Amino acid sequence: MRLLVTGGAGYIGGVVTLHLLKAGHEVTVLDDLSTGHADSVPDGAAFVEGTLEDAAAAVLSRDQYDGVLHFAAKALVGESTQHPERYWRTNVVGSLALLEAMRANAVPRLVFSSTAATYGEPDEVPIVETAPTRPTNPYGASKLAVDMMITSEAQAHGLGAISLRYFNVAGASGPQGERHATETHIIPIALQVVSGRRPTFGIFGDDYPTPDGTCIRDYVHVDDLADAHQLALDATVPGEHRIYNLGSGAGFSVLDVVEAVRRVTGHPVPTEVQPRRGGDPAVLVASSARIREDLGWVPRKPTVDEMVADAWAFEQARAR
Ligand code: UFG
Repeated sequence: MRLLVTGGAGYIGGVVTLHLLKAGHEVTVLDDLSTGHADSVPDGAAFVEGTLEDAAAAVLSRDQYDGVLHFAAKALVGESTQHPERYWRTNVVGSLALLEAMRANAVPRLVFSSTAATYGEPDEVPIVETAPTRPTNPYGASKLAVDMMITSEAQAHGLGAISLRYFNVAGASGPQGERHATETHIIPIALQVVSGRRPTFGIFGDDYPTPDGTCIRDYVHVDDLADAHQLALDATVPGEHRIYNLGSGAGFSVLDVVEAVRRVTGHPVPTEVQPRRGGDPAVLVASSARIREDLGWVPRKPTVDEMVADAWAFEQARAR
């Protein structure tokens, strides 16, 4: 298929682009490089630098595309509470421009990066797709708005779309990994402690109602996430918007992850308990039953150790 990947110079978009190229698809990446890196665009993909608002229509009118995988977004919960307007513009206005360009150019399928943050604080875990959506920050709210936009676009204009609601994405795919200027994610931060770039790992709260008092999350390997995108691309049905949660279905606490980092790297990770981080739910674990049943998705690397090992290999290769 001829595919457009928005945000393909970022972490997840870059890994998915790599997988799509390996599967024989023809890929164009559109990215404004606001957080991505031009040298993260995998070899073999065409690259256009620009925002969705400025460039999506021009790119999609140049060739007949079979589908779009839409990753381009702002994705920091903390920043979204301080600068919500950035989230409404990039995530909502940008996605609207993309959908309009897709409609104008009769692009039939879309796979969208949605997020567990659309659910907010859950009443029950594991979280199923029919759970109430009550986002607790502008990031989650902006992604939920896009999901709603896509549903109406599918109903009114026949788009075939699938949203994947990611839980905690981790790991690396060979040369493609996490390279955020502002790093907030647990595994890369713990690896910075291992490589001596941070003195200690701060545990954001140890008084949550969980067995060890630290937050529990559902980690999914970025390669498994890429598999899900390929399955989704082949499963879209015109006029339908389906939503699938994407996690490994198991919960790991912050202390479990730190222990995995120690085990895999063989290095000590000194920790210190810090205050809770605002907006962190105690437990977020996905039910991925729906995507397993409907699309046959099975995570191939479900353990945190495998995710840490791949992220560590990526970090070491970068350091060299
Ligand atoms: N944590 C620490 N110390 C750190 C970094 C993180 O204790 O230095 C803890 C956090 O408090 C949290 C857990 O580790 O309990 C995971 O934190 P991350 O920042 O790695 O991930 P989040 O669960 O906050 O966020 C992820 C995605 C978001 C998405 C959210 C959906 O990064 O984009 O899942 O739930 F919105």
